Amino acid sequence: MAADMSGADNVASFYEGLGQVLNIAWGENLHYGFWEDDADDSTVEVATARLTDLLISLLDPAPGSTVLDIGCGVGKPALQLIAARETRVTGIAISDVEVKQATVRAAEAGRSDLTTFRNADVQELPFEDNSFDGAWAVESLLHVPDRGRALAETARVLRPGGRLVIADTVQRPPLDLEARAVLDEICASYHVSAYATADEYQGLLAANEFVDIDIRDISDKVARTGMIMADVVEARRDELARIDGPEPVDQYIGLMRRAAASPGIGYLVIAATLAPAADS
Ligand SMILES: C[S@@+](CC[C@H](N)C(=O)[O-])C[C@H]1O[C@@H](n2cnc3c(N)ncnc32)[C@H](O)[C@@H]1O
Repeated sequence: MAADMSGADNVASFYEGLGQVLNIAWGENLHYGFWEDDADDSTVEVATARLTDLLISLLDPAPGSTVLDIGCGVGKPALQLIAARETRVTGIAISDVEVKQATVRAAEAGRSDLTTFRNADVQELPFEDNSFDGAWAVESLLHVPDRGRALAETARVLRPGGRLVIADTVQRPPLDLEARAVLDEICASYHVSAYATADEYQGLLAANEFVDIDIRDISDKVARTGMIMADVVEARRDELARIDGPEPVDQYIGLMRRAAASPGIGYLVIAATLAPAADS
């Protein structure tokens, strides 16, 4: 049978290749770090956990509530959420390798009872309507070709009044030629769909019945991420090159440095509430 080269397969192979390398070099919170200011010398582990804490406070789930983790990676943010709030988390990712690792991490943490991980595409969620009290998508929607469909599906499976939190890298127009070139190269190399904008998210959320939409640009707090990520990968370059080959590792280091220096890429955290049912 011919290989299926659909977008989802490409994203999965990224997370089973270079994504695994990044888990080793950067850590299993495969998302940006949050540094308070220039004097903040927190480690990557502390800074990435701090970003998760910010998202937990925005989601603000009640103990025992059900949360859908869209693009759960290897489960570290879900386990931090459970430790903080005793929620039940269903995590989805597009790669079987991530799903397996997340399941193992949850078992090691003694949290199998509060977690379920499975392979699913946010554009076609395998859940009944009104299944979850809350949802978050931590740096996953950047990979999704049809973000409108993803948010429509998320709205369908959330109960009315449910919270949604999104963290994502976005483009900040106007872009000069170098900024456009960096974005295009990242999209082509890392299976990122076209970068969204803050306005696009505002429009898509409103169109899918989300209200109280709070969009915060925290680019200055996370700006150090790209350079540090390039540094930690470069420091272990030979070891990592043995896992996924030297070319993807070297390309990643160079591109991360250019991206970190580009004013065209920003970072948003977004919180919104699905409109309550009309009769409530
Ligand atoms: C940058 S990683 C972030 C992982 C995790 N949220 C974290 O912060 O550590 C992106 C995640 O999005 C998932 N993903 C990409 N496209 C997806 C899709 N269409 N549906 C569901 N998950 C997707 C990947 O499998 C991966 O787990």
